[in-house]
Amino acid sequence: MTNPATRWQELNQELLAASDAYYGGSEPILSDAAYDERIRELQALEADHPELRRPDSVTQQVAFTRETDFAPVAHLQRMLSLDNVFNGEELDAWLAKTPAESYLCELKIDGLAVNLRYVDGRLAVAATRGDGRTGEDVTGNVATIAGVPHRLRGADVPSLLEVRGEVFFPRAEFAEFNDALSATGHNRFANPRNAAAGSLRQKDPRITAARPLRMIVHGVGAVTDVEFGSQSAAYEALSRWGLPVSDATRVLTTADQVREYVAHHGEHRHEASHEIDGVVVKVDALAEQDRLGATSRAPRWAIAYKYPPEEVHTRLLDIRIGGGRTGRCTPFGAMEPVLVAGSTVAMATLHNAHEVARKGVRLGDVVVLRKAGDVIPEILGPVESLRDGSEREFVMATHCPSCGTRLVQQRLGDKDLRCPNARSCPSQLRERLFALAARGAFDIEALGAVGARDLLESGLLVDEGGLFSLTAEDLARTTVYSSRGGGVNATGVKLLENLEAVKQQPLWRVLVALSIRNVGPTAARALASRFGSLERIREASMEELADTEGVGAVIAQSLKDWFTVDWHVAIVEAWRAAGVRMADEVVEPADGEDAAVGGQTLAGITVVVTGSLEGFTRDGAKEAILARGGKAAGSVSRKTHFVVVGENAGSKATKAEELGLPILDEAGFVKLLELGPAGVSGDDGAAAAP
Ligand code: IVH
Repeated sequence: MTNPATRWQELNQELLAASDAYYGGSEPILSDAAYDERIRELQALEADHPELRRPDSVTQQVAFTRETDFAPVAHLQRMLSLDNVFNGEELDAWLAKTPAESYLCELKIDGLAVNLRYVDGRLAVAATRGDGRTGEDVTGNVATIAGVPHRLRGADVPSLLEVRGEVFFPRAEFAEFNDALSATGHNRFANPRNAAAGSLRQKDPRITAARPLRMIVHGVGAVTDVEFGSQSAAYEALSRWGLPVSDATRVLTTADQVREYVAHHGEHRHEASHEIDGVVVKVDALAEQDRLGATSRAPRWAIAYKYPPEEVHTRLLDIRIGGGRTGRCTPFGAMEPVLVAGSTVAMATLHNAHEVARKGVRLGDVVVLRKAGDVIPEILGPVESLRDGSEREFVMATHCPSCGTRLVQQRLGDKDLRCPNARSCPSQLRERLFALAARGAFDIEALGAVGARDLLESGLLVDEGGLFSLTAEDLARTTVYSSRGGGVNATGVKLLENLEAVKQQPLWRVLVALSIRNVGPTAARALASRFGSLERIREASMEELADTEGVGAVIAQSLKDWFTVDWHVAIVEAWRAAGVRMADEVVEPADGEDAAVGGQTLAGITVVVTGSLEGFTRDGAKEAILARGGKAAGSVSRKTHFVVVGENAGSKATKAEELGLPILDEAGFVKLLELGPAGVSGDDGAAAAP
């Protein structure tokens, strides 16, 4: 292998010479494609060997390599969206009201729209779609995408050209990339679209450069010097100039041909190199496009035919019962593994026996399976025509599969059946112990599902009360936490450390960890901040509990019920005796400072944090927001005031962008915490104050 420094020298010299020749007007030394290829090799080399990134590198001199700064960029022409149709009839209706000589049919790429502005043939700015009028500057990142030319080639390149296209993460690379993320302890992306969005929204182009993104162009915005007769002619010119166009695009003349195109790609939707969520049909002639015009949202000359969420067939092998931490026994389908909407599925919940009856599925049936919202697998029903008589009706269990206790209805008319043996049913205990260690509760890293099972099966714990009294001698008797020599292994040491640290956790985490029905993190935080200690919560009246914001009568009743059970109280006592703090420190406001206002920089402000931040864990960020009187929301809506976008942010970032919400990076977030909205309304990546 060539020495990296030598290769760097070679490349850099060649590129500098080529650049001089190009701008000096002499005979070109390198073709544009070869130039781009070498630039990328140089960028990759410098990504691997940062010490080579010296000031005299061409990567440091040329305008396109500037840092992506997410600064607002006004598109010269608005970027419109598309209207949708969802079936053949709607498509026919659109074709009937939009007659044309010929239609241009394309794949609808499931990625992110970008606008590339070329000035005198050079990539000047690349921006996200944003609200259609203004996007964000992602030039540095787009410039790293393979196949996106930095310079257009040809004698007839216009002096100004805006092209629109879709950036996507190729499907072939997605699985592998995700596996690599998991292997290095990072979160996986839900789908290629999120991966593309996360990769494009990187502050550092070197990270984007390392991702296998691609782009395909699907339109032209502002342009000077040339007039295209049709969209297809425009694509031909774009392709000649070096821009990546799709090879699946067809010019078709009859409605039948259009329908056939739609049907064909519906059947072969997984054969494209990228995810597709439909087909786009455009009137080809630009004069006709102009005549038809656009609504405020979308052109009248184009339509997106959206494919339905994917459904597949598979065999339902068995219906089993799973037990949750509250004892709820839920039937779920075990199926022959099948690929649906990009991942392999072998299990799907059936919720309760009524659902099984309502869906009419039997064991051995071929069933229709889809992913609800393209995420959660759902069994829709049986394919009755494929039955051969060997299928068997499902009979709901009458006894807990874990401890054999007879299942009961909590209340008359309840659809769920529960195991009432809450204290010692092994599966409930295991689930409770596992839940208690979760990130949203005690966050005990060294206690997972396997560890929880081990602690119970080795007889060390009868319920969660004994957790904080575990000793090194105890752990030496387990499988997961013991070392060969008869002591504790590294995980065991970690568990003991974790348990010690957890004793000082805030009260709300204790409340969540107790597995009190209906008491999740939100209610727990509200209770903790109102009452300050577990004792006070226990002593509070129904009314006091119920009128706590975010609590209400149902949770109040759950709390009251919970404290009447003696072994519940025994858990609290055992934890307290082992040193678990059951109260929050109350910070007294300084003289003259209003308690409600002191440090409450985010009162009335809703913030969504997405992706991973360097200086905050997910819960840490949430706590920081809450501590300043703000609301930490889980999903982005018009009511969100700020969206903080970290590394690998996915659909929430995209949604924020679509809604035109102020987006902050980590530095902006820190300022927001310190100074409140006024502190970030100008720069720092925030588009506007709420
Ligand atoms: S044409 C004015 N063509 O779909 C016409 N859009 O749902 C606007 N998209 O914002 C776009 N593939 O980001 C067009 N072949 C294609 C497309 C495509 C994907 C995206 C595009 C648009 C969105 C609308």
